[in-house]
Amino acid sequence: MAIVPAAGRGERLGFGVPKALVPVRGTALLTHAVRGLLDAGCVRHVVVAAPPTEVESTAALLRDEGLAADVVAGGADRTESVRLALRHAIKVVPDARVVLVHDAARCFTPAHVIRAVVAAVAAGAPAVIPVLPMADTVKQVDFGGTVLATPDRAALRVVQTPQGFDLATLTRAYAEAGDSATDDAGLVEKIGVPVATVPGHAYAMKITTPFDLAIAEFVLSAGVA
Ligand code: C5P
Repeated sequence: MAIVPAAGRGERLGFGVPKALVPVRGTALLTHAVRGLLDAGCVRHVVVAAPPTEVESTAALLRDEGLAADVVAGGADRTESVRLALRHAIKVVPDARVVLVHDAARCFTPAHVIRAVVAAVAAGAPAVIPVLPMADTVKQVDFGGTVLATPDRAALRVVQTPQGFDLATLTRAYAEAGDSATDDAGLVEKIGVPVATVPGHAYAMKITTPFDLAIAEFVLSAGVA
């Protein structure tokens, strides 16, 4: 089972529509993302969190593309959107063992990454995330922008999605962890459960800015995604 939080406004892309509905080569990011999950061959059920005003249109969009997915209203932030979608998912597929959470904005994640995450959870890891090594040096700064520290780059990773969990672990994390996190593994860490990693991929980049969108257009037109 997979949850796709797609309820963000996505203003940084400047299209005047929710980011998940921004087209890449004529097809919405969300459509690419849901198709990618279903085509990976290890996801049977998809639940999408859409902006509350776009639930019907989003459901129609996916239906028209022949993609089977439930669409629910998302919340005020990503964590809330996932919480609402998870609540629905548990109702419709209560016996699911593995649950993925995948950003619509990472719509070109290769199938082998999706399969690696599912396989690692199925093999017994309670939480699994795809990661990449850091290419850049990263600085910790104070609110004024003055550098406080330089973490060892070799110990840092860039985090992608889908993130995979056994259903009981993710449900408990959402019940117990309380506040928001920028990713779901962050909530799982807060309840003391170890999070494993698998190799991510450059194509699982998050499409956030017009520059990212241009790269996504290229990736798709080159036939590499
Ligand atoms: O804003 P950001 O790019 O970090 O959002 C990551 C993902 O979370 C996107 O797929 C976005 O649509 C989703 N999101 C959501 N509900 C919100 C805000 C963001 O589902 N209220």
